[in-house]
Amino acid sequence: MKLNENYLNINDSYLFSTIAKKVAAYQKANPDKKVLRLGIGDVTLPLAPAVISAMHAAVEEMAHKQTFRGYGPEQGYAFLKDAVKDYYKERGVELEQDEIFISDGAKSDLGNILDLFSEDNIVLVPDPVYPVYVDTNVMAGRKIIYMNATAENGFLPMPDFSVDADIIYLCSPNNPTGAAYTKAQLEKWVEYANKKGAVILYDAAYECFITDEKLAKSIYQVEGAKTCAIEFCSFSKMAGFTGTRCGYTVVPEALKSGKLSPNKMWLRRQTTKFNGVPYIVQRGAAAVFTEEGRAQIRESINYYMNNAKIIAEGLRSLGIWFTGGENSPYIWLKCPDGMTSWEFFDYLLENAQVVGTPGAGFGVNGEGYFRLTAFGSEEVTREAVERIKTLLSK
Ligand code: MLT
Repeated sequence: MKLNENYLNINDSYLFSTIAKKVAAYQKANPDKKVLRLGIGDVTLPLAPAVISAMHAAVEEMAHKQTFRGYGPEQGYAFLKDAVKDYYKERGVELEQDEIFISDGAKSDLGNILDLFSEDNIVLVPDPVYPVYVDTNVMAGRKIIYMNATAENGFLPMPDFSVDADIIYLCSPNNPTGAAYTKAQLEKWVEYANKKGAVILYDAAYECFITDEKLAKSIYQVEGAKTCAIEFCSFSKMAGFTGTRCGYTVVPEALKSGKLSPNKMWLRRQTTKFNGVPYIVQRGAAAVFTEEGRAQIRESINYYMNNAKIIAEGLRSLGIWFTGGENSPYIWLKCPDGMTSWEFFDYLLENAQVVGTPGAGFGVNGEGYFRLTAFGSEEVTREAVERIKTLLSK
């Protein structure tokens, strides 16, 4: 056999696995210490009651011969695709049912979509960035070029028409910085991609945290986006599905390259390599869009956004510079006293038993920054903020 040597070019371990290992080692050496986790963006509130009862009903259906389901459509059941379609319609975006593909989450689809693109495409990613975009392309041996996301550009790089790229990753609201593009800013990106014949892989996993009307909840709110963008979204952060697993990807029919249609190719790819999301889970996901479900998930989102406020107030009182936390569940802060990201990670873990994510793990420009998530419980968030305040005001 001959193994894929591109794996020699990525870190041994995925960022969040490295952190989990470090924290586990610390906890083993200090079993009496209570570690507070604001690192990985994992939700802590249970699934909404509307989701639970829909899933219970689906389990019951599976118990009877007349209502039992075997293989479902690989690209998702119509009842869920229609619910997603209506959700887009409310935001002024008309989609066809066949343009929506239900999956087990945005992370898998963001990686799997690369099956559609040849290896000689040039990939443009912001730095810092969600590590999945970079790692999946390194695994495939693609050339990656970076655009700087810095405090100067509000962590929202804009297109440079003198740079040629084929595949562009945008995540808004951004993981890790919490910055979000306005519709006007996205218009520039759509113009760039259409001009270059490039594709934008748009990660909208955090769109439900947007409250500011000027910000885009979907790239398709921008005219011309259907000929240049694929959008990824997920129930993970929106409705607490990090462990339940469900998401959706929109591949517009209007997106074409020569004779090839990414929509048809994705259908072909999914029907070959994927057997769909469990019926029970899809029933739960559909319940997210009912009136009851929407009210319940809104409550959870508000709860997390209140945590973001608690973190923001704590940092403000310490005079620490930060961004995010307003239309996003992530707070991106400058490490105090010129510490590097990993120095601050160790300092917080050892002295306050608080876990965050080192900015350097998201790219070179993340060095000197640190990410905290608002997805903890309110109790843990308050306690973590108090511990950080006590430690840093010494
Ligand atoms: C994060 O913490 O960046 C996310 O939880 C990772 C993910 O969604 O895969």
